[in-house]
Amino acid sequence: MQKLHRGSRIIGSGHYCPEKILSNFDLEKIVETSDEWIRTRTGIRERRIANEQEASSDLALLAAEAALKDAGIKADDIDGVIVGTVTPDMQFPATACLVQDRLGAKNAAAFDLGAACSGFIYGLNTAHGLIVSGQMNTVLVVGVEVLSKFLDWQDRATCVLFGDGAGAAVLGPCDPDDGILGTYMRSDGSLADLLWIPAGGSRAPISEFTYQQREHYIKMKGDGVFKYAVRAMVDATSIVLKQADLDLEQVDHLIPHQANIRIIDAVIGRLGIPEEKVVVNIDRFGNTSSATIPIAFDEVRKSGKIKSGDIVLFVAFGGGFTWGSVLFRHTEPAGRSG
Ligand SMILES: CC(C)(COP(=O)(O)OP(=O)(O)OC[C@H]1O[C@@H](n2cnc3c(N)ncnc32)[C@H](O)[C@@H]1OP(=O)(O)O)[C@@H](O)C(=O)NCCC(=O)NCCS
Repeated sequence: MQKLHRGSRIIGSGHYCPEKILSNFDLEKIVETSDEWIRTRTGIRERRIANEQEASSDLALLAAEAALKDAGIKADDIDGVIVGTVTPDMQFPATACLVQDRLGAKNAAAFDLGAACSGFIYGLNTAHGLIVSGQMNTVLVVGVEVLSKFLDWQDRATCVLFGDGAGAAVLGPCDPDDGILGTYMRSDGSLADLLWIPAGGSRAPISEFTYQQREHYIKMKGDGVFKYAVRAMVDATSIVLKQADLDLEQVDHLIPHQANIRIIDAVIGRLGIPEEKVVVNIDRFGNTSSATIPIAFDEVRKSGKIKSGDIVLFVAFGGGFTWGSVLFRHTEPAGRSG
């Protein structure tokens, strides 16, 4: 890779998940399913669900405020706000603009990024590019979803899988040999109908017909997603390690997208990475799409498990189909342990 004049690193993180917990036992009362089926097929025990008033920008704002506080920077120090989401508050303006306004980030550009479950990874990679190119110094990246409002609560094959939540990270410049060491993004739009919401866009505006067909809800071909997800995450992990000239043994923490414990287990098996290096919290949050990785990172970091100097690898896949990874050497802000 071309030698860069400067790098970028995560200088703060935060997350927020709604208070309301929906357990598998609660789901048994909504659709024909069981706690046993959900746990054994997905690893999920419960997920958080936004209340009627809560939209993506509300969750994103709380995660962003926590990340700024953690980074020790003021909102007007931010040059860019990137929000990875496929469940925006509305078609437009961008949820990122709503977050920018409510944060008081008056010097920032703001835009949404629609890469489904890879949204946070795509956002981090974009922020890294903006910083290393010198266009921006400080960028806030948020992954947020309120998927519960786009789920068909009559479709047991999808409604048991997802949850609501937000995670955020602030990126700032650093020495070119530190911070983010490798980035990777790919897509394959020929797989679009594996996971999508068919109606509500310019192709199929919502009509009586699409409404009757329930096409304004998430549709998924679960077995197809499963197959491509494992391959994509294994490839994205190997490629980003190669870029940085590191071996898997040098990775201290692998934080994969939390879609299904069996997908994570298959990735662990194919890579041959010890389980204790892999961060898993799907049991408590389900699949929060673009938010899974920043939520897991913030949780595990603030538990003290990630130390300064540790090598961390994020890897995700999602609707689109999209996939990607970010590899970095973590530095804890001054004053923190590690
Ligand atoms: C969805 C998924 C858990 C289904 O697991 P699976 O082992 O492939 O299960 P199948 O689809 O073969 O379904 C088996 C049976 O369970 C049933 N079933 C589906 N959902 C169910 C549920 N919530 N509760 C009980 N039974 C259910 C199916 O109807 C099917 O019944 P049938 O054999 O009588 O037709 C799995 O395919 C998966 O995780 N895919 C990836 C999904 C994903 O990660 N999406 C997000 C990507 S970001």
